Amino acid sequence: MSLGGVVLLSQLPGCSTAAADASKKASSQSTGGAGVASTASADAAGITDAQTNQSQTSQERQRKVPEYVFSYADNQTGNYPTVQAARRFADQVNQETDGRIEIRVYPNAELGDEDSTVRQVSYGGIDFCRCSLSNLPDYSEETLVLQLPYLYEDRDHMWRVLDGEIGAQVKDSFQGSGMVALSWFDAGVRNFYTTDEAIHCLEDMQGMKIRVQQAELAEDMVEALGAEAVPIVYEAVKDALQTGEIDGAENNWASYEAMQHDEIARYYTVDEHMRVPELMLVSSATWEQLSAEDQATIQRCADAAGLYERELWTARETSAREKCLREGTVEIVLPEREKKRFRDAVYPLYKKYCGDYAELVEKINEIRD
Ligand code: GCU
Repeated sequence: MSLGGVVLLSQLPGCSTAAADASKKASSQSTGGAGVASTASADAAGITDAQTNQSQTSQERQRKVPEYVFSYADNQTGNYPTVQAARRFADQVNQETDGRIEIRVYPNAELGDEDSTVRQVSYGGIDFCRCSLSNLPDYSEETLVLQLPYLYEDRDHMWRVLDGEIGAQVKDSFQGSGMVALSWFDAGVRNFYTTDEAIHCLEDMQGMKIRVQQAELAEDMVEALGAEAVPIVYEAVKDALQTGEIDGAENNWASYEAMQHDEIARYYTVDEHMRVPELMLVSSATWEQLSAEDQATIQRCADAAGLYERELWTARETSAREKCLREGTVEIVLPEREKKRFRDAVYPLYKKYCGDYAELVEKINEIRD
């Protein structure tokens, strides 16, 4: 576990990134600093409370200075389902706390790439984030199980797992990680896409350079299929496709379209190798400042945001696919027998990654249908 490293990093002066600084700025307002400062300057100018009040417009009077201003990071674009759900979450929390809690949503990896975002959340530099499970095994080993290739029969199976006892158990496993897992988000199913040569069968994968997330499991999976895994941060994939550094990548339809990978990698092979669910997380440092009542409000709003994202997801997956196909993507759907060859090739990973969690995998299999 790299938690020791995380704590150490947060203790080193000068180690905070620009993203952490941006977030800290928000957090300094969060302690009610803005309200205190305005009273102090009025005092200094010899202005009485009555005079101050008189000069305020009624709108200003109504506007409340929030008690907390929190940051929320996401690496997706502004209209992506996860970001829309984050905005809904922020609005609902603000409403339900009567303006006391303000959450500012930063999309497009503005506060850093996913890996750095999670690290910052774990030590309190950023308050909230939405993150793919691929970045979380250092904080909860159990998350590895939930992202194994070909683990779920389909979307419904995944949601039965996440909504049930197993999903709750994995959320609880974040205890001691510096973060609290609030709610699950959908991220569809991942498929391969390539620039020059289409993938029709396992043989076509051999020797291809395929971008993967910066995660050991993703690397191992691609290597097990005979390709060369090239870990690259999400925001840099388009350039890598363009320059020919990689022959392809893998992701769901929505990301393929949102990041404009379809403009360069025209062949999209539906092999459905992985469903990698996502989590909304809050920093324990932030969480522990809040009253039990505020925590309950935030949890309730996060649950609602999770359900909302799920709804948006289905529509977005369909519209992204349709748009890409209209604009020239060639879709190759692997026949069942070929898919089985892919599945067999990655099966040894279950042993490597689930040695200690065989029971969990068994339980997941039991609720297939
Ligand atoms: C998905 C996921 C992102 C992740 C990305 C990736 O798009 O939603 O959070 O960063 O995959 O492949 O890196």
